[in-house]
Amino acid sequence: MNNFIDEFKLNDNIFYLNHAAVSPWPKRTAAAVINFANENVQQGSSQYLQWLQTEQDLREKLRWLINAKSTDDIALLKSTSEALSVVAYGLNWKKGDNVVILEQEFPSNRIVWESLRSRDVDTKLVDIRQKNAEDALIKACDPNTRIMSVSAVQFASGLKLNLEKLGAFCRQNNILFCVDAIQQLGAQAFDVQNNGAHFVMADAHKWMMGPEGLALFYCDPVVREQLQLQQYGWHMVEQHFDFDNRDWEIATSARRFECGSANTLGTFAFNASLSLIRDAGIDAISNLINRNITYMIEQFSKHPNLQILIDDDPDRLSGIFVFRHKHINNNELYEYLLDRGVVCARREGGIRFSPHFYNSTEEISHVLDLILHLKG
Ligand SMILES: Cc1ncc(COP(=O)(O)O)c(C=O)c1O
Repeated sequence: MNNFIDEFKLNDNIFYLNHAAVSPWPKRTAAAVINFANENVQQGSSQYLQWLQTEQDLREKLRWLINAKSTDDIALLKSTSEALSVVAYGLNWKKGDNVVILEQEFPSNRIVWESLRSRDVDTKLVDIRQKNAEDALIKACDPNTRIMSVSAVQFASGLKLNLEKLGAFCRQNNILFCVDAIQQLGAQAFDVQNNGAHFVMADAHKWMMGPEGLALFYCDPVVREQLQLQQYGWHMVEQHFDFDNRDWEIATSARRFECGSANTLGTFAFNASLSLIRDAGIDAISNLINRNITYMIEQFSKHPNLQILIDDDPDRLSGIFVFRHKHINNNELYEYLLDRGVVCARREGGIRFSPHFYNSTEEISHVLDLILHLKG
């Protein structure tokens, strides 16, 4: 694993614990971007066929990462939010339909559904504080529920959902199941054939360690045609390089959701980042992330001034750890950490640390020492 860990070359004074926000790039991703820039300077797009091959390689890696059946099920969009909008504005809503989501969701996964108010679609917000999340979501569904939409891992609390349970319920009850997987893909294994999601979306820039602005959108072929298209262009038709063809048809594959030219720079970068995940292995990565989170739980719980805010049930653990200091204002603590090079976030009234596989327990110990040095 050491040669993969060596791909991260952050400055010595930076302790990067913020992969649930935006990840640093591995060296190979930077190299791919530099090479692509040089290629453009020296040759323009004369290697366009190679660019298309890289795009196909990226689709294949994404297919592998979520265990989809075919690369035809994978579209490349610009963000998680865009993919959620493709679903929300693609469905043919009936008056009185409702959507079931979590109260504590990241705004992208709430706003898009609430925006459907104008189409008489009701958004049911399920509060999962003090409750079993899956049971509460299932209980909120009724015969008018058209879709359940969840993040696989909650961005603020780090709670990992039991997607298999939710997916099975949705499939049995003819409810569409939509999963924002941005806080899971690249950190933990994900199997769309097992969890039964109809739609999965995730931008590259968190745990997949890729660039911002390029996202996976998986659409189950069984429901693909249910999504009415909202954008049109040359790239989404079956014969997209036959510019003289006036008799166009929409592509049968998920390319139908990509209306124009690809983000090729992003494609090269994302493809390189995913090659690291493939080479290192998702299980090895996930074990190291789990080691880091378990280490934080053990070490932080020794200190009565620190309160751990995540659910420490092993089945609920993700790459996100949140705690608060009982006697120090957590905004001040955040500023103090930032001044000492600790890159993290403020969430749930506390501090969110989201280490990746290459972070070491020594780094975590150092950050904990910094926290303990600050007197309340
Ligand atoms: C759960 C979740 N969904 C979506 C997003 C935003 O994704 P995008 O910028 O790709 O729309 C975030 C970013 O923090 C997130 O945590």
